[in-house]
Amino acid sequence: MNVLELKKNFYSIGYVDHALKVFDVAVLTEEGTSYNSYLLKTSEGTVVWETVKAPFVDTYLEHLQAVSSAQDIKYLFVTHTEPDHSGSIARLLDLNPNITIVASTPALTNLTHILRRPFKQMVMNPAKPFSFGGYTFQFVSGLMLHWPDVMFTYIPELKVLISCDAFGGHFASDAMLLSKEPDQKGYYEAVDYYFDHIMAPFANFIVPACDRVEKLDLDMICPGHGPVIDQDVQKQIQIYRERAKKFLPVNDSNHVTIVYASAYGYTRTMAEYLRDRLLQDGKKVSFYEIDAINYEKERNAILDDIRTSGMLLLGSPTLVGDAISLFYELLSHITWTIGQGKKASAFGDYGWSGEAVKNLSDRLTQLHFKVIPGFRYPFALDEEGKNELAAYYETLK
Ligand code: FEO
Repeated sequence: MNVLELKKNFYSIGYVDHALKVFDVAVLTEEGTSYNSYLLKTSEGTVVWETVKAPFVDTYLEHLQAVSSAQDIKYLFVTHTEPDHSGSIARLLDLNPNITIVASTPALTNLTHILRRPFKQMVMNPAKPFSFGGYTFQFVSGLMLHWPDVMFTYIPELKVLISCDAFGGHFASDAMLLSKEPDQKGYYEAVDYYFDHIMAPFANFIVPACDRVEKLDLDMICPGHGPVIDQDVQKQIQIYRERAKKFLPVNDSNHVTIVYASAYGYTRTMAEYLRDRLLQDGKKVSFYEIDAINYEKERNAILDDIRTSGMLLLGSPTLVGDAISLFYELLSHITWTIGQGKKASAFGDYGWSGEAVKNLSDRLTQLHFKVIPGFRYPFALDEEGKNELAAYYETLK
């Protein structure tokens, strides 16, 4: 039974899931995961944070029953509503409809859509600590880590922060405490993987969240997944901050990234012209020609350059009515948090239909880039084409 008293009257009662291999369709979880829930027994009743994914509700209720009961719960704190955490709330309300759910305003809105029933509720307000049963519950904004509803709870009397998905990772630990987990290497690899695949797009929200958290007097962080962090807490916060810094979008207007593909050299001619003009104008240019063999090798460097540059230029010929598929693979790794604020444009040659430039421009727009109308030209550039390309270059400034 995965129940552990973490501090006096404060328990971990979640579900450790060794069997999970994929989370949220696309994220591999080779080390399994846990859906963590925390319970505090107070003189006035029981307080619970989070529940577990719906299929595990029966085991979860056994864990709850081992230290308290659904009838004793006065408040259920919901720090984030993704159903891996909110999936068993309905069963708790079946057992005790008098539970007051405490959550951020966006989380309460989500819960109306998840639960589809009336429920007692209270808003988590970071400016207004809430006291109950001899404890203080101070709410710390974790908004956009990685949903817009996330709110941490800090309990100064316990020196504990309950942080939902932040600071954790998909790692099934029967030890339940990081200090007792024998596979430290596996744990940190899982946390890195989790960060890269789930948290990284929100790096610019994570750094200020670390600023807020590091000011707290803490000796324990209780995340939504993985073991409780009960060692080197301040160091863990700094590690998290440094991870986020690696993913911070930078908008360097002097840096332009050009990525192009060219079967017969026509689009290459355009790309080289744009590169040379940019260099003449004193810009730093990261310049990549991609094809089916070198793309995988170059991808991470390209993505890093896109993240740090102020403009992205994509050059693709049209193949069967669309851009070369490698560009869509590349753009699938870019989120709106990277695209917003950066300029972008597409260019390329074409034979008979020429949709590549429009289709890439549409995708760049969806990713919040400031898209400059693109340039396309049939096959080789003649004098008129060269003049049009020169005019196009002027629009990029
Ligand atoms: Fe662990 Fe975002 O749910």
